[in-house]
Amino acid sequence: MARRPLVAGNWKMNGSRDSNASLMHDVVFEARNFPDVDILVCPPAVYIESVGRMLEGSAIQLGAQTLSEQGKPGAFTGEIHGGMLRDVGCTHVIVGHSERRALYGETSNIVAAKFRTAQLCGLVPVLCVGETLEQREANQTEAVLMEQLNAVVSLCGIAAFKTAIIAYEPVWAIGTGRTATPQQAQDAHEFLRAQLAASDAKIASSVRILYGGSVKADNAETLFKCADVDGGLIGGASLKSAEFMAICAAAQMREK
Ligand code: PGA
Repeated sequence: MARRPLVAGNWKMNGSRDSNASLMHDVVFEARNFPDVDILVCPPAVYIESVGRMLEGSAIQLGAQTLSEQGKPGAFTGEIHGGMLRDVGCTHVIVGHSERRALYGETSNIVAAKFRTAQLCGLVPVLCVGETLEQREANQTEAVLMEQLNAVVSLCGIAAFKTAIIAYEPVWAIGTGRTATPQQAQDAHEFLRAQLAASDAKIASSVRILYGGSVKADNAETLFKCADVDGGLIGGASLKSAEFMAICAAAQMREK
């Protein structure tokens, strides 16, 4: 099944009103050259609304980097409800990024609850999964991926993956300049798809699985050529328009 490639920019805790405006000016202009690629940008929450205005008239989609797991708004100081993200124009939200898991104590159960809340609010969750270096070296990669994926499948059901995106992000490749080889990425993506296929082959073949972890202009093409790699979740390189656009060009060129 042909899956439309997606290139998503995760800005993390970066940006300013000025730098966002200049980045979006370039990206909106150039994105017209990539009609076969879905492009998503995920700015810090305080900038979502203003970035949304910069995207008006373009096909670029808007996402958030996390959301509260709480189903209803209320007394949760500092948290942001999925309905608010929808209200300011988000269509997508990243859940379970390894930085959230490692630095902010998000367990697989919390991530699953966030995934569910996102969908209940009409947002498409981009579920991040991935192993640490220690786990890979101890041959635990598949067990870790299974645990992270199954927490969501158990809570939300396999049908939830009809409207979700997965991002395989090996922790050791994030922000390190050390990218997974195309074979390592393909193996993990194939494994994740097979896990879903055990419950529903049709959903498994249609879900998009992005690779994330030091994707750059010069390695995107070989990664995107892998049969089960449907695009990328891009951190550092999404902050530079030329790099980000070159990655979109690699997605546009891919033939499957
Ligand atoms: P990176 O980050 O591209 O800077 O490695 C990827 C991510 O964390 O989503």
